[in-house]
Amino acid sequence: MGGILVAIDGPAGSGKSSVARAVAARLGVVNLNTGAAYRAAALLALRENVDLADGEGLAALARRVELDPEGASIDGARVGEPELRSPDVSAAASKVSAHVSLREVLLPVQRAAAEKARAQGGGVVEGRDIGTVVLPDAELKVYLSAAPEERARRRAYQTGREGELDRIRAAIARRDRQDSEREISPLKPAADALVLDTTSLSLEEVISRVLDLAIDLRGQT
Ligand code: DC
Repeated sequence: MGGILVAIDGPAGSGKSSVARAVAARLGVVNLNTGAAYRAAALLALRENVDLADGEGLAALARRVELDPEGASIDGARVGEPELRSPDVSAAASKVSAHVSLREVLLPVQRAAAEKARAQGGGVVEGRDIGTVVLPDAELKVYLSAAPEERARRRAYQTGREGELDRIRAAIARRDRQDSEREISPLKPAADALVLDTTSLSLEEVISRVLDLAIDLRGQT
């Protein structure tokens, strides 16, 4: 008997990471940020000069990536958050994630990490296709959205780059396009997801809505 899995999907700046982290902490369960695996594969591609259009080459790199609640590892060595979150890696992650071959490698990696979390009491798993593809049987699926302008503002504030709002807005629009227009696992809500537009909600309001639902569901299982 394990706990429940909560899937949280949404575009960049929708509040996924903050919500997932807080909900996991308050439920006392594991938080998995699946974007870290895509970012680690992208970082490897940049380090080793693998063409971001070379699907097979990228899939081979992805085999060296592992995912756990602390983040991602490459060849068994932990990769630091600052390195994974650089603008270059963010842009490359969106590109590498469009390759079917790479997604096929990372799919079982994410499922195994989620099932391990379930066995340990449950997990909150965050990404782009968790409710639709990675964990279609998750007990709770949440899709967070927010107006692009608001997401850019949050990202700029979060990273202390308020002066770069225009550049951040453009980067978010580009990533939105790439993530939602790709053929495989595009960013979209699962049919049975709760869709929450967070544009005018505070972080605390979003956290408590998701938490209430999760606690209800946990009580039923
Ligand atoms: O959540 P994030 O910004 O750290 O994700 C980085 C990139 O990885 C994002 O542009 C799309 C991709 N990604 C994905 O395709 N599927 C996931 N489950 C998670 C991330």
